[in-house]
Amino acid sequence: MDNKNRPIGFFDSGVGGLSVLKEAIKIMPNEDYIYFGDSKNAPYGMKSVEEVRELTFKAVEFLLSKGVKGIAIACNTATSAAVADLRKVYPNLPLVGIEPALKPAVELNNKGDILIMATAMTLKEAKFKRLMEKYKDRASIIPVPCPGLMEFIEAGKFEGKEVEEYLLDKINTYKKGEIASIVLGCTHYPFIKETLVNIVGKDVEIIDGGLGTAKELRRRLNEKNLLTDSTNEGKINVINSSNKDEIIELSYRLLKG
Ligand code: DGL
Repeated sequence: MDNKNRPIGFFDSGVGGLSVLKEAIKIMPNEDYIYFGDSKNAPYGMKSVEEVRELTFKAVEFLLSKGVKGIAIACNTATSAAVADLRKVYPNLPLVGIEPALKPAVELNNKGDILIMATAMTLKEAKFKRLMEKYKDRASIIPVPCPGLMEFIEAGKFEGKEVEEYLLDKINTYKKGEIASIVLGCTHYPFIKETLVNIVGKDVEIIDGGLGTAKELRRRLNEKNLLTDSTNEGKINVINSSNKDEIIELSYRLLKG
C-alpha cells in the first residue's frame, strides 16, 4: 500500500484516547485509524514509570506491526513516561504525545487558580514539572491528582451521583469564584466534562489538549508528505487488550457521541 494511505495509530491505557481521536477525525476525516486501548492493564496512572514505559513500547510495536504510518500517544500518563525514549528508538516515525494544556489556560489570563486534573503519575513526572516551571510566574497553578476517576469512564459512567460526588469532593476544596479554569490533563476526562460543568458552572473555562494534539499530528504527517490523498470517509478500527465486547461497544459509542 502507498505509504500515504496507511492508517494512523492511536494509543491509550483505555478508552480515554478516543477523545483525541474524535478531534483527529474532525480535521482528518479521510484518514483510516487503528485505535488500541490497553484497558486490561489500566489504570496506568497508579503504575510505576517503568511499567508504563514498557506497556507503551509494546503498544507502539503492536501498532507498527499493523502498518501504521504515524502514532498518537493519546494518553498523558504514557506520554510522560515514554515519549522521550520512543523518539530515540523511532527517530523517523511521526509521533505525537499529549500533555496537560496549560499554555492556553494561562493565556486566558483569567483571575484565579488554574486546576490541573490528571493522574498522579502525570503530575509527578519531569515533563509536567518542566511545564509548571515555565508558567509558574504567570499564574497560580494547582495540580489535582484524580485517582479513581478514569475507572468511572472505563465503566461507561459519565454522570450520576457517584461521578458527581467524586468531582464535588475534588473541587469543593477550591472556592468557586476563585477557579480561573480547569485543565483536563487526562484523555479520559473530556467524557465527564458536562458533569463537571454542572458542578463548577459555565463561567469556569474547561480546557483539554485533544484538538491541539490532533493538529500537531496532522502537521507532522504533512511534514513527511504522509497525509492521505483519499477523498472517501476513513475507516476506524478499535482494538482493546481486554477483549470484552462491552469495551469495544463503549469505544464506538464514545466516538459517535
Ligand atoms: N488516559 C490516561 C491519561 O491521559 C490515563 C488513565 C490511566 O490512569 O490509565 O493520562
